[in-house]
Amino acid sequence: MHPDAARVLLSEEQIQAKVRELGRRITTDYAGKEVVLVGILKGAVLFLADLARAIDLPLSLDFMSVSSYGHSTKSSGIVRIIKDLDESIEGKHVIIVEDIVDTGLTLNYLKETLAGRDPASLKICALLDKEARRKVAVTVDYVGFAIPDEFVVGYGLDFAGKYRNCPEIFILKPEAYGQHS
Ligand code: IMP
Ligand code: MG
Repeated sequence: MHPDAARVLLSEEQIQAKVRELGRRITTDYAGKEVVLVGILKGAVLFLADLARAIDLPLSLDFMSVSSYGHSTKSSGIVRIIKDLDESIEGKHVIIVEDIVDTGLTLNYLKETLAGRDPASLKICALLDKEARRKVAVTVDYVGFAIPDEFVVGYGLDFAGKYRNCPEIFILKPEAYGQHS
């Protein structure tokens, strides 16, 4: 366990078993098709890397990076694209891969934006779902774990840029927040 962890929410074994299960489901659901996994930088990178290896289909990867505007507009759900996809998704079977759905604003925006580019299909796969925090409804087609309303780090998720490389997902000790400024 990481020294800054107050409590481990999901162990490496739990995460890896769930990722394999999601990979199997996607492999079955998209049998005979080719998929494009769109990873949302940076949080989804670790999940995407493991998920891609658990999917037994012809597959390509692309990435987007987004940031929400200031707090006042966050509630409007306006998201700025920092890095767009490299390739066209027209006619492709696209799965957006995200670390966590919180308010839902990011994924709601991304889904609408990518839907406008005429993919053959568009689904969302998120490792974590904090349902209690949802501000806008968004259908998440593949969910790893529903989690309580707690700030979590590890396995791609960060606080102040740290803890992304930890193989487990945990809740920080209160002292750990004070170490960054
Ligand atoms: P939302 O669904 O638009 O509110 O934003 C989801 C994004 O907020 C995720 O991609 C994360 O970057 C970030 N986020 C939400 N909850 C957490 C958390 O518990 N730990 C770390 N990042 C989080
Ligand atoms: Mg994120």
